Amino acid sequence: MSITIAGAKPDFFGEVSGVDITQPLSAEQVAAIEVGMDRYAVLVFHDQPLSDDQQVAFSKNFGVIERAVGSNITRPGERRLSTSLADVSNLDQNHRVFAREDRRRLFNLGNRLWHSDSSFRATPAKYSLLSARTIPGQGGNTEFADMRAAYDALDEAVKAEIENLVCEHSLMYSRGLLGFSDFSDEERRTFAPVRQRLVRTHPVSGRRSLYLASHAGTIDGRPMPEARCFLRDLNEHATQPQFVHIHRWRVNDLVMWDNRQTMHRVRAFRETEERRDMRRTTIAGDGPTIAQAV
Ligand SMILES: [Fe+2]
Repeated sequence: MSITIAGAKPDFFGEVSGVDITQPLSAEQVAAIEVGMDRYAVLVFHDQPLSDDQQVAFSKNFGVIERAVGSNITRPGERRLSTSLADVSNLDQNHRVFAREDRRRLFNLGNRLWHSDSSFRATPAKYSLLSARTIPGQGGNTEFADMRAAYDALDEAVKAEIENLVCEHSLMYSRGLLGFSDFSDEERRTFAPVRQRLVRTHPVSGRRSLYLASHAGTIDGRPMPEARCFLRDLNEHATQPQFVHIHRWRVNDLVMWDNRQTMHRVRAFRETEERRDMRRTTIAGDGPTIAQAV
């Protein structure tokens, strides 16, 4: 079986065919997918009815799975899925849609803001793999923005200005943008800010990219309002239509993206009425983007 990856416009989204990812892969197949990831940064595999175990097995081809703890306010006894999977659904532990006022739903609304997964961890995520088990009748698209193209399009003066900048990222910053700020002391400790470079270099292609996320709330050495204005300008630049691809989900799509090179956000749907059951495995990065206390 040979893998085919066909690119779409804009030029960072590839459609993969010729592989059944519910089954074990050969080393050649894994290598072909990695080449596709380095080239495109976002790949979709259609018609892959994965179980959780199969999704975990497929994901392990690409590195170490990041434990899905410390990334939301769900308590251990409320989990719907194992800690190998991030629950990106709108469902509680009984598979029921969250009530409108449910604190977990309000926290998870932060996923509607542009972000890179786990940029709030000292060692942020490399890949995310998101499997669509149940999708709403309308809405709930995921949009991706190519942070390499966004970087390339910056003025040379801006590139020089940002070359060595360092930001602090925290879930408290992104949730705070939506007015969600009633964190417990324990949550404040869990979500303590981490430092990340603003410009990253891809280890294989050598391409530069903007490392942005709504989690970024400060820039070292800059007053807060100035830092936030600047980050807002960069985010507006980086999410212009020419850098964005809209993914309209089909049931049993598996979309895999490189968090080092892209941002993404989910779009609105009737989330207090319809079910959207999406399950994410996350591959940990190689290490921090900058030296810091962990
Ligand atoms: Fe995400």
